Amino acid sequence: MIELKNVSKKYDEDSHIVLEDFTFQDGKSYCILGASGCGKSTLLNMITGVITADTGEIKIDGDVITDMTQEEKDAYRLKNVGYIFQDFKLMEDMTVLDNLNILKLGKFKDLQVDEVLDSVGILSKKKNKVKNLSGGEKQRVAIARALIKKPRIIIGDEPTGNLNFENGKKVVDLLMKNAKTTAKNIIVVTHDDRLAEYFDEVIHFEDLLKKEDDANV
Ligand SMILES: Nc1ncnc2c1ncn2[C@@H]1O[C@H](COP(=O)(O)OP(=O)(O)OP(=O)(O)O)[C@@H](O)[C@H]1O
Ligand SMILES: [Mg+2]
Repeated sequence: MIELKNVSKKYDEDSHIVLEDFTFQDGKSYCILGASGCGKSTLLNMITGVITADTGEIKIDGDVITDMTQEEKDAYRLKNVGYIFQDFKLMEDMTVLDNLNILKLGKFKDLQVDEVLDSVGILSKKKNKVKNLSGGEKQRVAIARALIKKPRIIIGDEPTGNLNFENGKKVVDLLMKNAKTTAKNIIVVTHDDRLAEYFDEVIHFEDLLKKEDDANV
């Protein structure tokens, strides 16, 4: 369960994101839709402790993320969260295989690596350097890296943004399969309405924003 209470983040006067209280329930997959620049990545980054909220509390299964030091947040994310970043955050000069093993969670078994790479359709690129892959292939490495540690939370920021609909659908199926087995929480941002229908809940980001009237009370 991921709980948000009085959460806000202000970058500057134009970018002040104030959120309604909201709880992401266990066992449900959520899809978040919203215009560019509305704050979707900011929300995912606050939940995963990549950035710090200015106000409020974010709790994951009772653990108060917002009370943790940056070091504790990073350790928490490494252990519990499979985060597919909007900009992948892969090591370009390293191979696909090394990118999967970089998490320092212990080396994954060859079989495990092969299975995950095969499931996203890039097993043949295992020994290739990431910088020589296409955008869609890099995206699939990022997905594989998030899934291989069997995280209890899967967070995807446009995880299908560089894939065509057919491959995007396969990735969503894969995420759902994981959601049903190992992950308790799955939250994905997408702009693709056609993929949104495969999630249990579709949230329009504007509905997460605190209404003007409430903010003034
Ligand atoms: N580090 C930062 N410094 C200043 N402003 C920022 C920073 N990060 C984000 N912003 C601003 O905050 C707002 C929300 O950004 P965010 O990246 O969360 O949007 P988004 O909904 O993910 O957009 P997109 O769909 O384009 O990825 C934007 O106006 C953006 O310019
Ligand atoms: Mg974004």
